Amino acid sequence: MKILVMHGPNLNLLGKREPEIYGTLTLDQINASLTELAADLDCGITVIQSNSEGSLIDAIQAARDVYDGILINPAAYTHTSVALRDAFSAVAVPTVEVHLSNIHRREEFRRHSFVAPVAVGQIAGFGLDSYLLGLRAIVDYIHGMKQR
Ligand code: DQA
Repeated sequence: MKILVMHGPNLNLLGKREPEIYGTLTLDQINASLTELAADLDCGITVIQSNSEGSLIDAIQAARDVYDGILINPAAYTHTSVALRDAFSAVAVPTVEVHLSNIHRREEFRRHSFVAPVAVGQIAGFGLDSYLLGLRAIVDYIHGMKQR
């Protein structure tokens, strides 16, 4: 099983960026934990980070027929990008959306996600665990699909 892990804009700054909200782990540390869990779950992961909406859309389009699932933290594009949502609808690769912070108890504008309605589900508010739970969730979901 192959999972594409996608990190959206500004997540390259994790560790230094608003640590009181996003914690002190760097993106490399998060990716290392995901790689470890992926080995336990017997799945392969490819990790990308981009600050550019177009690059993220290109990666979603290229994921069709290559990856079994996508784990994404769309970061600020969660709340703004119809284009990202349309890309997910177009490729129909099962996707789990994750956020480090609980977007539902922050500013009003963070409560809406354009991605959530086209995702299998959303996990928010658990820091690194949001990603780890998200990886478990997408892998379990795909196993379930294959059994059907
Ligand atoms: C975030 C929440 C978003 O609202 C914000 O724009 C981010 C990070 C999170 O992981 O908590 O960049 O996706």
